[in-house]
Amino acid sequence: MKQTLRKAAVIGAGVMGAKIAAHIANAGLQVYLLDMVSESADDRNAIAKSAIDRLLQASSFSAFTHPNRAERVIPGNIDDHMGLLNDVDWIVEAVVERSDVKKGLYKKIEDIRKPDCVLSSNTSTIPLAELTRGMPERFAGNFLITHFFNPPRYMRLLEIISGPMTRPEVTRTIREFIDRHLGKSIVDCKDSPGFICNRIGVFWLQCALHTAIRLNLNLEEVDAAMSKPLGNPKTGVFGLMDLIGLDLIPHIIATLKTGLPPSDAFHAYSEVPAVYSGLLDRGFLGRKTGAGFYRIRRMNGDKLSESVDLASGEYRPTRKAGFKLPDQTGNASIRALLDLPDDIGLFAWRIVSETLNYTAGLVPEIALNLADIDRAMRLGFNWRTGPFEMIDRIGIDYLETRIRRDGKALNGMLNVKGPMYRTDGGILRHKNPNGEFTLAPPMPGVLSLDDIKRRGSPLLENPCASLWDIGDGVACFEFHTPMNTLNRELLDLLQRSIDLAADKFRALVIYNDGPHFSAGADLKELLAAIEAQNWAEVEAFIRKGQKVYRALKYAPLPVIGAPSGLALGGGAEILLHCDAIQAHIELQMGLVETGVGLIPGWGGCKEMLFRNHAARESTKEGTLAATTFLLIAKRSVSQSAEIARDLNFLSERDSITMNRDRLLADAKAKALNLARHYRTPASANVSIVSSPAATWLSAAIDEIASGKPVSDYERILFQRLADVLSGDAPGTRINEQTVSERELENFMFLVRRPETSARIETMLKTGKALDN
Ligand code: NAI
Repeated sequence: MKQTLRKAAVIGAGVMGAKIAAHIANAGLQVYLLDMVSESADDRNAIAKSAIDRLLQASSFSAFTHPNRAERVIPGNIDDHMGLLNDVDWIVEAVVERSDVKKGLYKKIEDIRKPDCVLSSNTSTIPLAELTRGMPERFAGNFLITHFFNPPRYMRLLEIISGPMTRPEVTRTIREFIDRHLGKSIVDCKDSPGFICNRIGVFWLQCALHTAIRLNLNLEEVDAAMSKPLGNPKTGVFGLMDLIGLDLIPHIIATLKTGLPPSDAFHAYSEVPAVYSGLLDRGFLGRKTGAGFYRIRRMNGDKLSESVDLASGEYRPTRKAGFKLPDQTGNASIRALLDLPDDIGLFAWRIVSETLNYTAGLVPEIALNLADIDRAMRLGFNWRTGPFEMIDRIGIDYLETRIRRDGKALNGMLNVKGPMYRTDGGILRHKNPNGEFTLAPPMPGVLSLDDIKRRGSPLLENPCASLWDIGDGVACFEFHTPMNTLNRELLDLLQRSIDLAADKFRALVIYNDGPHFSAGADLKELLAAIEAQNWAEVEAFIRKGQKVYRALKYAPLPVIGAPSGLALGGGAEILLHCDAIQAHIELQMGLVETGVGLIPGWGGCKEMLFRNHAARESTKEGTLAATTFLLIAKRSVSQSAEIARDLNFLSERDSITMNRDRLLADAKAKALNLARHYRTPASANVSIVSSPAATWLSAAIDEIASGKPVSDYERILFQRLADVLSGDAPGTRINEQTVSERELENFMFLVRRPETSARIETMLKTGKALDN
């Protein structure tokens, strides 16, 4: 889609501003990043410059989807470069959380910006009414709040707050850009302190902190209780505070304290306890300073994990949480936690009941409806279920009875009869304060597999996968194994799905709603066959994968892979056999099989060799085998879809979707587009020249080892991989069939090695590759 904005500026190059600028650059815009003039350095732009350098040096979770995006971020300072703002379409203010500082800056911007330039604040708590008070009408018309979450590239939520004076076209333009080009899921918030996530999230954190101190619990117990059983991230309460930064939370608390009416229940938890301020005084601000409620210390080369004792405020060795829940999962695990007859049960009940009861009273004060609150908490705090969904999981009757038994009054939505959500005829509706149920208006360009699943039954199904009709003649194949690993049953259903789609559909999309496309072949299943020395079964598994993937490639209809998150090993190989890929920008794709002592056996070597051959400009004839070898042997994994393109995992045919919500609809549109003039690819007779391994392997191994010793086993592994990718003699041609046969033969050789079993076992136990 055409971009409506050309140039942007971000003011404030701190934790948020620099990363927001990076993400705007990821969307293709040039962006000025301005901070104060640096007093301590010769370079007046040093603050903004060093912020960009820090982002480029980050070893993980890079703010840039590709390092070359940094060229689009131009550092500057507000004394020398304010004039540049007269040429930008959007200015994001991300300076300290103080309305006097923010408003002082707005006044300067007002004199410079062009009339249609939009200004938005990244404030996490200050209401728009406060930020526009006393400002000219012209200012308010072009002003809104766009609240990104940290880190802005990865956190999907954006809270948006428009004021009564904000011009509708201003909100529309910014929404459109943030949705389609920055890829954020937007939730509209009412103009109240803390908006949605911080209002509820900080209540929850403070309530837990105060209650844990009162009940004399330790942090490990609190975090264990507030994470898995509720479906929340494992950081729980204290781990999350360390992640947010202990210095930031008191700012949010201060705004909530001054902005909320005296009757608001937050005031009961608004003090910052001594143990917390003690950490602040010592400069222990959480993960960014290496110490907060938790810290890791190095003692004689060992790592020692320590936690703060809530009573003394001193560090002590981290303990294992001392409670165990009955073996329950899902909804039952919450009730099991709340019913525990000890202090943990009492604590969990207090936090859960108070947070849910508090939230029940906030509709419509902070949001248009309860579904928006749930979506915000899922996307902004990574809760598996939002508070109203949690009420339904626990059961409204249970909550009502216990809250009344505590002598407390029920708030807002808890007084409205019936569950918070209802499904009528496959359509999910949420409850309104008047007791009626409403359907959330569909978002154009968004297709939800969940909605499709609620409305009907799959065309085909087994415990590992399903095939769905997603309309307009397009079918969708969905994996649903743990981490979407690929096993025999799943491959069976894929074959049947290809056959059925070929008969009855115009195109097939391979997609699932989960965070990861696929972690690859099911190693547990493979290891079981290896341990039983059932080589025939292993061989049949590899043959089956090769056959099904070939059927996918040569199907009489277009097949589109639509991955997000991990697409590793067999998961990457399935994508390489698709006619085209519609990738979410957050794509970690890689052929990582050597990490478990194997080579890609389902056509990954073959497809990469031919892909690299097709992209001749970047892979010259003589280096084709070596380039492909290095990609696989180094287990290169793309850290974004842009980088997947550099690695030739994605080709010119493939496209990138920034917004995860839009991935399925984009993939379907691509499928229909291809279906209009689709021709099955020419069969596997194409052959290519690939240099013999003897001419390049030793240099390639040296490059991988970079001075470290290479074990005999690893040398064998590399030699086998090289054999698959090379011609036997200079000038000999190889085709798809020959490479596939060599994949199978060498896979079967390697799978019998005890070192390979050791690698697989380690991967299953630790998630890490064994270096043997
Ligand atoms: P920070 O303290 O890391 O960075 C603020 C930056 O603004 C500093 O580099 C400072 O030098 C600069 N600055 C201060 N006054 C300035 C002025 N008049 N002109 C130009 N630059 C100026 O702050 P952080 O954490 O990045 O927060 C910025 C905004 O984003 C705040 O409104 C905060 O509430 C909000 N926010 C913060 C989140 C977080 O996780 N840190 C999350 C979401 C929103």
